[in-house]
Amino acid sequence: MADRYVVIGNPIAHSKSPQIHARFAQQTGEPVAYERLLAPLDGFEPTMRDFIAGGGRGANVTVPFKLDAFALATERSARAEAAGAVNTLRFDGGRIVGDNTDGVGLVRDIMGGAGIGIAGRRVLLLGAGGAARGIILPLLDESPAQIVIANRTLAKAEELATQFGQLPQGRGRMAAAPFAAVEGAFDIVINATSASLSAEVPPVPASALSAQTFAYDMMYGAQPTVFMQVAASRGAAVRDGLGMLVEQAAEAFFVWRGVRPDTSPVYAWLRAQL
Ligand code: ATR
Repeated sequence: MADRYVVIGNPIAHSKSPQIHARFAQQTGEPVAYERLLAPLDGFEPTMRDFIAGGGRGANVTVPFKLDAFALATERSARAEAAGAVNTLRFDGGRIVGDNTDGVGLVRDIMGGAGIGIAGRRVLLLGAGGAARGIILPLLDESPAQIVIANRTLAKAEELATQFGQLPQGRGRMAAAPFAAVEGAFDIVINATSASLSAEVPPVPASALSAQTFAYDMMYGAQPTVFMQVAASRGAAVRDGLGMLVEQAAEAFFVWRGVRPDTSPVYAWLRAQL
């Protein structure tokens, strides 16, 4: 009998996680059965408790339940606490262990997938919502020279810069600015806004994107996002968030099974499906 896992969300039909985890299970020989689980918008907790009662071993959590999963967890990893959200749950006896693999997924895709170093680099983070918050600690763990958070609503960027500036990894490294006041060149620019969903581009000053910049959009699609198009037009190297999707899944698989799958064939397969 395979151990049961789900990805839970609303909507959920579009999720690629079952295909990704099926490939990880096949590749590693781990006895994993992984399905989609649709929860009512007001019914995350009972849906999850039913799954646990039925012997479920773990869950990936997606929109809009990452805060509900945070609240449901009986214990949480440091990276889940920093993110303020949980995307991975592990059920172990009576324990509900909450983790967040999104940020590590991004960092692995930048370093391993794209071959870009983060240590000593100047990073511009666009956006200050949940997606941005979730990646700051794993980025800081790679010792960038600085992370500047730019956001339409400045107060949210300032709040994140202050919060993460208080951590040992973030001391002296965090800054916040409105888009118009972003100054200087950046080695890495990460779009963590949801602007791409409405085909909009955050108003990044021209100086921030150059031929020396690696520009990453956490969104992905069959075509480059508008942000990637603008960055490429300024000479930047660009990458979308498909690799982050695969890497966060691999980290969740590792959290559950203690085995690290090889992500590159799964990434290539998914890219070909887009
Ligand atoms: P998520 O979980 O995807 O981060 P969120 O918490 O709603 O979603 O945050 C969305 C982020 O995208 C915010 O930083 C938002 O800016 P505001 O804080 O000013 O609202 C940003 N955003 C959304 N649409 C944008 C746009 N068209 N231009 C620039 N920033 C945008």
